[in-house]
Amino acid sequence: MLLDGNVAMITGAARALGRSHALTFAREGADLILVDRCDPEGGPYPMAGRRALEETADACRRLGARVLTAVADVRDQAAVDKAVHTGLDEFGRIDVLLNNAGVLGPGGRLTHELSEEQWQLALDVNLSGTWRCCRAVLPHMVRQGGGRIVNTASTGARVGFERYANYVASKHGVVGLTKAMALEYGRHGVLVNAVSPSTVADDSTLDTRSTRAVAAEMGAGLQDYERTSAALHPIGRLITAAEVSAACLWLAGPHSGGVTGTELVVDGGFTAH
Ligand SMILES: NC(=O)c1ccc[n+]([C@@H]2O[C@H](COP(=O)([O-])OP(=O)(O)OC[C@H]3O[C@@H](n4cnc5c(N)ncnc54)[C@H](O)[C@@H]3O)[C@@H](O)[C@H]2O)c1
Repeated sequence: MLLDGNVAMITGAARALGRSHALTFAREGADLILVDRCDPEGGPYPMAGRRALEETADACRRLGARVLTAVADVRDQAAVDKAVHTGLDEFGRIDVLLNNAGVLGPGGRLTHELSEEQWQLALDVNLSGTWRCCRAVLPHMVRQGGGRIVNTASTGARVGFERYANYVASKHGVVGLTKAMALEYGRHGVLVNAVSPSTVADDSTLDTRSTRAVAAEMGAGLQDYERTSAALHPIGRLITAAEVSAACLWLAGPHSGGVTGTELVVDGGFTAH
């Protein structure tokens, strides 16, 4: 198994892409620290609750993983530090940090219509939250002589999207942060990369919500939005959560040892235009 003996911390793990990543890593032998804010009211669209995090954890345990869950908001450094320390107490090491927690928006507004709060939420969760988790884990990875960090960017880190300036700016920032950290920590054996998905197909088994939320913000139904969006992808369909998880697994696993400071784009050719 590709992650046998590894401990991976995954943020935003309660549902959707985070749940898919957790299941993929569990199948490949990793033990897991699963982190989520668990506050359904805390985002621009309904976020996950505690029960969703425990459902993800139980599904991973059924696959043989040892799993620790931690309720932490990536906007709160003390809460992130506590999750990391609890994980280290339990497992003794953290080999992989997968920064997945993020919010798509709040969107649907022109740049000048965004409030300070709406701007800050996207930046604070998507960019600063990634930085906070990295700064909590990096000293341990340096001490243990290596590790892998996979940050979640987006096609919104490669091109602009109208009415999502806050999101686009935050995800461009994630790629910049990734490159800077790759330069700083390569000599310590810590490889830092980003994954950039395009719109992920809705999947009720993973309790996905964000594609639905974006469709609603753009005034469209889910099916119409998915059809219109799929037509912009050369592969003729939206990508799946499993395809994003496979990219994260490759970046976290033994076959990407020479790769750092890069962005693995999983977008069905969307940004090749
Ligand atoms: N779904 C897509 O189409 C898509 C495309 C490109 C990039 N992404 C990125 O992938 C990541 C996951 O997206 P998703 O669609 O699965 O999102 P989602 O909204 O369905 O799930 C996000 C998870 O993160 C948690 N979370 C939100 N804010 C948090 C915080 N402050 N602290 C801790 N946990 C928090 C939520 O509770 C939820 O469980 C995000 O970074 C997103 O920007 C998603």
